[in-house]
Amino acid sequence: MSLPFYIDKEIYKDHLVNDLNVPASSIVNIYPKKAPFFLYKENGLHFALNISDNKFIHIDFLKGQMGWRLKRSEHETLIKKALGKKSSNLKIFDGTAGFLSDTLIFLALGHKVIACEQSYVMFMLLNDAIYRAKEELNFLENLNLVHGNAVDLYNNTENIDLIYLDPMYPINKKNSLRSGNMNDIKNILKIEMIKDLEDQIFFDLKKQQYKKIVLKRPIKSKIIDNNLNYQVKGKSTRFDVYI
Ligand SMILES: C[S@@+](CC[C@H](N)C(=O)[O-])C[C@H]1O[C@@H](n2cnc3c(N)ncnc32)[C@H](O)[C@@H]1O
Repeated sequence: MSLPFYIDKEIYKDHLVNDLNVPASSIVNIYPKKAPFFLYKENGLHFALNISDNKFIHIDFLKGQMGWRLKRSEHETLIKKALGKKSSNLKIFDGTAGFLSDTLIFLALGHKVIACEQSYVMFMLLNDAIYRAKEELNFLENLNLVHGNAVDLYNNTENIDLIYLDPMYPINKKNSLRSGNMNDIKNILKIEMIKDLEDQIFFDLKKQQYKKIVLKRPIKSKIIDNNLNYQVKGKSTRFDVYI
């Protein structure tokens, strides 16, 4: 699916083509009448989901809750426990990149990460956010963000210490904390006509060779595979660990 990239200043064109690999043929100078489309402004790339609601999605790692979490990554005790004893230098395969929040914490803790995202829209928004933050967040050099299906991409990787998965799940009142972000991803996947298979990614990767799988789940959700080794539980989230 080819989505237009709207720019109101010609100077943005080179950056989009050369730094973000946007095909020159997708760049337009006339504001699209209908969403969806990308929009590039001074502060980076945005994705227009719905013009009438003024619903634009934009990722900034340095601001808001993410910026704050990154400044105190040492306090991420739950994630640290789930990753295990080795405090740094793990090679982590994050099969469900999303907004990259979990991966950024892994990187801030000193690990290397290959992160996969099936949505092109999310991938482009992330690439742009990475580009803007890379001078401030040196650890981004330890990240390899790839677009595609994680189950296929895993076959091309070597020496992975840990597979991390945070699949999509149905939103209800009990787990509505992250529902804003999840809804945005769901709407984007709908536009791209990608059918998210939720927990299937776990079962597919569990068939492969692995050292350890850490599966993030809402705290009260069912255990999806009883062969788990241990759990790390927080208030709203838990990590099910398979070795
Ligand atoms: C719940 S979100 C992950 C949120 C992420 N952990 C974070 O911290 O922002 C799940 C994401 O994984 C992606 N995803 C799901 N299955 C995938 C697969 N098989 N391959 C690549 N990406 C996948 C979805 O498109 C979605 O963006």
